Amino acid sequence: MEVKITETVLRDAQQSLIATRMPFEAFADVLPVLNRAGYHSLECWGGATFDACLRYLNEDPWERLRKIRKACPDTKLQMLLRGQNLLGYKHYPDDAVRLFVKKSVENGIDVIRIFDALNDLRNVEVAVDEALKNGAEVQGAICYTISPIHNLETYAKTAKGFQAMGVQSICIKDMAGILSPKEAYDLIKTVKGTGLPVVLHTHSTTGLGFMTLLKAVEAGADVIDTAISCFSGGTSQPATETMDYALREYGYTTGLDTDALMEINRFFKAYRNDSLASGLLNPVVMGTATDALNYQIPGGMLSNLVAQLTAQKKLDKLDEVLAEVPAVRKDMGYPPLVTPMSQMVGVQATSNVLNGRYKNISTEVRAYIRGDYGRAPGEVSDELKKICLGDGEPITCRFADTLEPIVEKTRKELGDRAESDEDICSYIAFPSLAEKFFDARDAQKKRTFSYTIREADV
Ligand code: CO
Repeated sequence: MEVKITETVLRDAQQSLIATRMPFEAFADVLPVLNRAGYHSLECWGGATFDACLRYLNEDPWERLRKIRKACPDTKLQMLLRGQNLLGYKHYPDDAVRLFVKKSVENGIDVIRIFDALNDLRNVEVAVDEALKNGAEVQGAICYTISPIHNLETYAKTAKGFQAMGVQSICIKDMAGILSPKEAYDLIKTVKGTGLPVVLHTHSTTGLGFMTLLKAVEAGADVIDTAISCFSGGTSQPATETMDYALREYGYTTGLDTDALMEINRFFKAYRNDSLASGLLNPVVMGTATDALNYQIPGGMLSNLVAQLTAQKKLDKLDEVLAEVPAVRKDMGYPPLVTPMSQMVGVQATSNVLNGRYKNISTEVRAYIRGDYGRAPGEVSDELKKICLGDGEPITCRFADTLEPIVEKTRKELGDRAESDEDICSYIAFPSLAEKFFDARDAQKKRTFSYTIREADV
């Protein structure tokens, strides 16, 4: 029996624990060990890594990917992609999606995990198609959520939809760590019905993670996501070494090299300790928080609500807001509480409590009701439809079909500033961050240039 392991330390683990602030230099030296540890894949790109590289680390995310590729020639590199949203929060035109996916593969990505926040498969079609065309291994990811309209049947339907597009594996993506061992067992059994390999992604937030992964493996999961122990637990993934140990006892082969895992952990422990000392890593996020089980909302969303109310000196309204969240979610047709839906629902619930029900409705919620994010999983309430659309109806087409191509226009606009198609992708995804990065790069070049002249003078 074989179970493979995807290591998340370079992406989700550091995103969940230290807000994706790990610079390339912090892990460069351990890449050769990660390369030979026997992982199924290294999740190392996508999600917030792209944004954080440009925004906080003054790193070219593409350059980071190429460097990881070079140092890890023997292990598959994996990224997370939000379908038509790419790595951002709005839908991009198809030509941008295609260029981005193509460049991701060209720069070294082997496995692309693609999802849509609403599990609306029209929003992943183009990304899946382009990834397959470029020879990537495509993993169709289903966002797991708890609601009266989500059940084994609906998840099986989503899995089959992905299969029809030609994906090579299916991932169950439990971003909130609320998938219980029993549900995982049933869900994996159901999705295995497709005949495709199944991957489970969960978080340790509520403490269910280890049990959930074990039951998932018992149900036939082929790959599980884990994080090296010193970057595991809490809002991150369950620990790699612990799962490896437990699974070996049951007779599974993981292919992992225990000595390499020890070396990797020793390496990251130093960085973990530095992060604790600097305050970048808050020990609270490494603990277990069961609130998400009681409220059935992700831990990150709960802390956002607390922060929002604290800022407005209205923390005494927290219970009312928590009661309003499920009501708003129901009115919105039960979207999974993943970015950007969790923010929309949270902000709307807060506004409903503080300003009156639907007195203020955010632009994003209006766009969602109009269908700009895709099809709502369930029925949107008549009240909300009436307020947002009047007598109109939501669009029925795929929102990206209403968007004009953007790549050539951007190429012209940027001129010399863009040195490559990768630069164009960065700019389309995060215009102001990319500009800032281009400026810094130009300044750096000028410095290097004048330095060279001086050297020559001497
Ligand atoms: Co995650």
